[in-house]
Amino acid sequence: MTQTKNLWGGRFTEGADQTFAEFNNSFGFDRRLFGADIRASIAHCDGLFHAGVLTRLEAERIKNGLTTLLKRADFDKNYFDEISAEDVHSFIESRLIQLVGDTGRKLHTGRSRNDQVATAFRLWLREEITDTSKLARQLQTSLLDLAEKNRGAVLPGYTHLQRAQPVLWAHWCLAYFEMLVRDRERLDEVWRRVNVLPLGSAALAGTSYEIDREAVARDLGFDGVTANSLDAVSDRDFAIEFTGACSILMMHLSRLAEDLIIYATNEFGFVELGDAISTGSSLMPQKKNPDAMELIRGKSARVFGHHAALLTMMKGLPLAYNKDMQEDKEAVFDTVDTVSLTLRVTEIVLRNITINAEKSRLAAAKGYLNATELADYLVQKGEPFRIAHDTVGRVVLFAISKGRELNELGLEEMREFSEKIEIDVFDALSLEKTLASKNQIGGTSPERVFEALDAAKRDLEIEAN
Ligand code: ARG
Repeated sequence: MTQTKNLWGGRFTEGADQTFAEFNNSFGFDRRLFGADIRASIAHCDGLFHAGVLTRLEAERIKNGLTTLLKRADFDKNYFDEISAEDVHSFIESRLIQLVGDTGRKLHTGRSRNDQVATAFRLWLREEITDTSKLARQLQTSLLDLAEKNRGAVLPGYTHLQRAQPVLWAHWCLAYFEMLVRDRERLDEVWRRVNVLPLGSAALAGTSYEIDREAVARDLGFDGVTANSLDAVSDRDFAIEFTGACSILMMHLSRLAEDLIIYATNEFGFVELGDAISTGSSLMPQKKNPDAMELIRGKSARVFGHHAALLTMMKGLPLAYNKDMQEDKEAVFDTVDTVSLTLRVTEIVLRNITINAEKSRLAAAKGYLNATELADYLVQKGEPFRIAHDTVGRVVLFAISKGRELNELGLEEMREFSEKIEIDVFDALSLEKTLASKNQIGGTSPERVFEALDAAKRDLEIEAN
């Protein structure tokens, strides 16, 4: 393997220590920016031509050369491994010089690897954000499908993991749908801040060539150019924001996974896991384990870690660029990979579970989930809520002692606690009424939930067109 010459060899008389060189090199991972760096280089080349730095012929030669590198990398599997390089930028430059000769040495005029890497990184991330959002959208679709498939199904809603009030399964699905709406809004916002061109900031002070930065930005599809060269080469807010938005997204997926892990236990039994997403035990033949969900939950930790790493890496850096910042790549690359894989697996999970509506409905009908209903019933009959709450508390205590649910008590038994209770109480305590009464926007009444389900479907469809 031939080692490429360093880009900065002139003032050095001795070579680098081998171990330090390995420590310093980023080509092992930043080769992922190859395509983006080539595209940015082509735009920079045009910028140099319009600035009068390159002749038309030189610019054409360089651009053709860069395009050829792209194609070669595409079909030659060993392309990246034939020569060793410090980073993707030096790799491209040496390959270009190899291909087009000395003209290639003119490409780096008016730029530094500092604005170059910031540009390539943004260009690359811009597309990854779009892809991530698409995967999140697919997951939203699978949540809607699950809701649709189980339209009438009910489960106990929990607070403190204690049965609280019944809700529709579709309501549960839409809760996670909403989280993903916000996640995608956040990704959109990060995208907008990513989509600004740092090229032209050079090393830190700006470039002395008459490069039309706005034109280069347009060329690359950036919405604008960075306003301050010192900031531009050392700003990694966009990477931190991205891992931040992804951390929140992963936290949501982790909660969804946790819900399903609990619901899939024998103790709950609301959800049956398909074989496609389960694993067995090497020792216990009866086991069916929710590994997919556990890994979704576990992977979130990794993304939070990357977010924390970037913040920590940046916090002490004096302006402007410092080599510490090379550490940004692996954090962001792994975030992208982890999030996209987790989103895809979560979708597969949702498509491979069966809701046991009978069991979850039974659970929703047991455990006094309609106690609030009885209090509301008394309020309707003119009792102040605080008194009604106290009365119902005593009714519940009585019912527990009898081992019966509220609607299994006799009318006379209930009237011992309040004269206001009449025969219509049984209707008020039914599961159907309990659900139907939560009829304000955001509530779990079937009417509201189906409305929300339709609205969600419409939103996704509008977006698709
Ligand atoms: N590989 C470097 C990085 O990722 C590129 C920028 C190097 N700049 C420099 N001044 N050494 O940050």
